[in-house]
Amino acid sequence: MERTFAIIKPDAVESRLAGQILARIEGAGFTVRAMRLQHLTKREAEGFYAVHRERPFFGELTEFMSSGPCVLLCLEAPDAIRKWRDTMGATDPGKAAAGTLRKDFGKSIGRNATHGSDAPDTAAFELGYFFRGLELV
Ligand code: CMP
Repeated sequence: MERTFAIIKPDAVESRLAGQILARIEGAGFTVRAMRLQHLTKREAEGFYAVHRERPFFGELTEFMSSGPCVLLCLEAPDAIRKWRDTMGATDPGKAAAGTLRKDFGKSIGRNATHGSDAPDTAAFELGYFFRGLELV
């Protein structure tokens, strides 16, 4: 079993798509191990996306991620990190494969409905950033 960190982003929550996305997550075979609705501050979003600090879109990204509540998730499945990235599809919804979450629910590369950890070390950092050990038992 493996765990990964996922976000249902503010665009999807605002569009009332969180329920549909959660149904797709469970339908794909993930177990939800932890979940919380949270409106991030700009500073919290900046800390989360610190690896992207030098990117030209950092300001836009952190403004958007702190613009409204999102759903924070710990998902568990065999090969969860790769499986969740496959379930989401490509970062840019315009390039995402048919049947993926970003294809079906994303609006643009910035407003792309969901986030997922890209490797075991980032999953460990991202899960620890938002969830206490007790919430992940
Ligand atoms: P995410 O998986 O949350 O990781 C970093 C995010 O940066 C990514 O999804 C995109 O939403 C966002 N992003 C990547 N490239 C761009 C871009 N060119 N313009 C705006 N946002 C971007």
